[in-house]
Amino acid sequence: MSIKLGVLISGSGSNLQALIDSIAAGRLDASIEIVVSSRADAYGLKRAEAAGIQTLTLSREVYADPLAADAIIAAELKAHEVDYVIMAGYMRMVREPLLMSYPNRVVNLHPALLPSFVGAHAIADAYERGVKVTGVTVHFANADYDAGPIIAQRAVEVREEWGLDELEAAIHDVEHELLPATVQLLAEGRVSVRDDGTVSVAPRA
Ligand code: GRF
Repeated sequence: MSIKLGVLISGSGSNLQALIDSIAAGRLDASIEIVVSSRADAYGLKRAEAAGIQTLTLSREVYADPLAADAIIAAELKAHEVDYVIMAGYMRMVREPLLMSYPNRVVNLHPALLPSFVGAHAIADAYERGVKVTGVTVHFANADYDAGPIIAQRAVEVREEWGLDELEAAIHDVEHELLPATVQLLAEGRVSVRDDGTVSVAPRA
């Protein structure tokens, strides 16, 4: 069944675009009801506008009180009857008002294989560490930053000849496939969180 999405962005929005394109191509049974940005200059806002999606931008002043900001976001998402909240390149921590409104329904995309390389510089950190394999994680966000239940992961082999730019490009390519595919699992109702905080994905019906 089709699910209603709220998408949170802060930057270029290439993962938002991947969701928009997957919906248009009939690969994702979802609709994007609203895009919320933490930055007025986020190029993702232009992508949303081009797709006819309503946007909301919160100013730095509003974010000065992070709890109030997340209460505003939660109210806006509920007003749009959003089922799942997708953090697609959103560079803010989600706080209790949003997490409580959407328990195990806030989905974050992280450009590394959690629990390795948490934080905001995961790709560079992995590259500088000299890992031979890194990858992408899609997980439910919770109060422990980057430590919520893992829904899906995909590995990326680091080629000897790659620099950081090549690794970033390879990671983003995988993100643009894995995020829509994982959101489709949610749309199909195949994802559940066990009591121990791990995630089970039911086989395709
Ligand atoms: C992505 O690598 C995402 O994993 C990270 O921020 C980057 C921005 O992506 N959190 P986007 O182009 O703004 O979707």
